[in-house]
Amino acid sequence: MFTTKNLMYLSVLLIAGVAAVKAEQKRPITETCLVCMCEALSGCNATAVCVNGACGIFRITWDQWVDSGRLTVNGEPSQLENSFTNCANDPHCAADSLQNYMVKYGQDCNGDQQENCLDYGAIHYMGPFNCQADMPYTFESIFKKCLKRAEMQQQQQQSINT
Ligand SMILES: *[C@@H]1O[C@H](CO)[C@@H](O)[C@H](O)[C@H]1NC(C)=O
Repeated sequence: MFTTKNLMYLSVLLIAGVAAVKAEQKRPITETCLVCMCEALSGCNATAVCVNGACGIFRITWDQWVDSGRLTVNGEPSQLENSFTNCANDPHCAADSLQNYMVKYGQDCNGDQQENCLDYGAIHYMGPFNCQADMPYTFESIFKKCLKRAEMQQQQQQSINT
């Protein structure tokens, strides 16, 4: 299950990942959004696992991995048998893949005139060509609760700092 400790650990990983990638890589998905995506998809359980071919904390599929440029861990070639699962099971590589995926497929799915985290969640879960559909209930409910909680934490942080 999801825990605050889990979340903090993941945040550190993702921040370290942000610092490590080249500055010019486009990253449309915010860190909060990544955390809430993984919470809704896997409970941010970093145990390397594939469920119906979808692997890692973000449950990335082979097709998504190919579509997002076949990123690999530690400069490993992308033709190896394990390249996909190694990347999907690595939080940095998986997050970078999702970023590339949203650079490519990012769009306003829910018609609110913005392209934001709700759209990215829908694109990842339901696919770029079906992202206007309703999200499955469990996914949507965990995802939106997580986003709301993050928003409240940010507001509290701001009121402490001002
Ligand atoms: C994480 O996933 C693994 C593999 O599915 C499972 O065995 C383990 O209990 C999970 N851990 C938590 C904290 O849920």
